[in-house]
Amino acid sequence: MGAGLLHRERPAGGRMEARQPAGDACDVQGTDRGGLQARTQPGLVGVVSLHESQGDTHTHTHTRAIKLDADKYENDPELEKIRKERHYSWMDIVTISREKLPDYEEKIKMFYTEHLHLDEEIRYVLDGSGYFDVRDAEDRWIRIAVEKGDMITLPAGIYHRFTLDEQNYVKAMRLFVGEPVWTAHNRPADHLEARGRYMAFLAQRA
Ligand SMILES: [Fe+2]
Repeated sequence: MGAGLLHRERPAGGRMEARQPAGDACDVQGTDRGGLQARTQPGLVGVVSLHESQGDTHTHTHTRAIKLDADKYENDPELEKIRKERHYSWMDIVTISREKLPDYEEKIKMFYTEHLHLDEEIRYVLDGSGYFDVRDAEDRWIRIAVEKGDMITLPAGIYHRFTLDEQNYVKAMRLFVGEPVWTAHNRPADHLEARGRYMAFLAQRA
């Protein structure tokens, strides 16, 4: 992917002021979706938008993002082009909300547990919003706000987690190269080859 894709501009003012992380208080069911914990824990760098911060150049994580028109995802030549070029042969659409997602509480906890995958995690936000937290090269949390139209790609081997924000709702397309493997390896998972490869990649760029 060309680096230029990371540099698309957003209107001034950005999302850093506009949106606050979830979890200012526990919700009525008593589930802290993680925002408060994340904001108060040592090492959280802050909320960034990949589009505003020039993506991996800023975070040094090789996390990538592009912006698409989510209103036309069902018939979007740009999306088709990306899928073809990157061999994203598989896709489905998931909705994360209390009403739509079975075992919501459990799933939310799972998404927010620090983990990695052996493959890229590719998500295209069709509606709603949320936060991906990724560890940077110094092992600090970087909180990345995603909203409608954002396609984010987390590299294989990066420690990360996901949480909803105050909307408590996201609808996202999951994309995968070949048959999907969703296995999450919770930290510590440093012994895995994908982790080793990712660390070597970071070291190369340091
Ligand atoms: Fe994940």
